[in-house]
Amino acid sequence: MSEDRRSHLLEVRNLKTYFFTRRGIVKAVDGVSFTIERGRTLGLVGESGCGKSVTSLSILRLISPPGRIVGGEILFDGVDLLTLDEEAMRRHRGKKIAMIFQDPMTSLNPVYTVGYQIAEAILAHHDISKREAWQRAVELMRAVAIPDPEQRARNYPHELSGGMRQRIMIAMAISCHPELLIADEPTTALDVTIQAQILELLEHLRQTMNLSMLLITHDLGVVAETTDRVAVMYAGKLVEIASTRDIFHDPQHPYTIGLLRCVPKMTTDPDGQRRRLETITGSVPDLVNLPPGCPFAPRCPEAHSACRQGEIAFTEVRPGHLVRCVARGSEVISHPPNLAVGLESQTGDGA
Ligand SMILES: Nc1ncnc2c1ncn2[C@@H]1O[C@H](COP(=O)(O)OP(=O)(O)OP(=O)(O)O)[C@@H](O)[C@H]1O
Ligand SMILES: [Mg+2]
Repeated sequence: MSEDRRSHLLEVRNLKTYFFTRRGIVKAVDGVSFTIERGRTLGLVGESGCGKSVTSLSILRLISPPGRIVGGEILFDGVDLLTLDEEAMRRHRGKKIAMIFQDPMTSLNPVYTVGYQIAEAILAHHDISKREAWQRAVELMRAVAIPDPEQRARNYPHELSGGMRQRIMIAMAISCHPELLIADEPTTALDVTIQAQILELLEHLRQTMNLSMLLITHDLGVVAETTDRVAVMYAGKLVEIASTRDIFHDPQHPYTIGLLRCVPKMTTDPDGQRRRLETITGSVPDLVNLPPGCPFAPRCPEAHSACRQGEIAFTEVRPGHLVRCVARGSEVISHPPNLAVGLESQTGDGA
């Protein structure tokens, strides 16, 4: 094995994706960096609106105006996706990097059978006959544990349950043997039992196909069993990144600690509902005109004046466990005040 063989499949460096709106610049993703190793799963967690989906869409370069990737690098197998032309990027999408979304109903076409839609996904990247593609579609449906796949392949999306539809989406996603699977809230629309089954399926596929996964969720409970590492995002920035074990056993950032308090203990109410036991007081800040410093400071029980004085640097509290918090020893970096000037004129994501 050569020495420079990369263990990172994906390396996101200082990614910045902004939306240039009439209200101002929405810094949806503002300097985000993380890596995903081959065959590993990274969980990306944070409250609604913190920039999780924009991060994943940026990786696939699916950001459209008024949004633009204004900075950073997205190294996939050592190649910066942001430098590829649209044709080369299209070859990556679906083939090397696949994505599944929260609501399969919006991604499936209601007028075609599910077998047809999986076959079409296969045909988009393979030069085989329609008949072979159909056979492969049925095999894929079997692989994602859909009972009686020959019959089911002839069903339309509305004839299947939510859990089955999500399995169809997963079958489509893995149809071209991607190396990276991005799953954006893949189980949010499903009830708890089905949710567990889908997560189990994803875990099984990760192991058998040596997939790398980016699992996006607002629910820390979901990442506990499924991920190797967790990145915690708040208001467009990462605030903590560590092994899943360390996130659960020794969380450092007050926001992570707050999120963990919101995770329902593994009990459910008599009516079968998971219930939020506690919420973090206050709300996510407006991403336009964020004040300098830690974006969580206004809600933070441990905040003091230094937190608001400038950008907070990451501190490594133990190997591989990074946190951005003054109360944990992070440095405050001051920037020249006119750093944002000139953004409007940048060419963005090359589209
Ligand atoms: N087209 C757009 N124009 C302006 N702002 C946008 C646009 N798309 C997203 N944003 C903003 O970017 C921020 C991040 O959005 P994103 O969808 O990534 O959040 P999220 O973490 O995925 O939330 P959720 O958990 O609700 O899915 C939000 O403040 C959102 O309002
Ligand atoms: Mg989202």
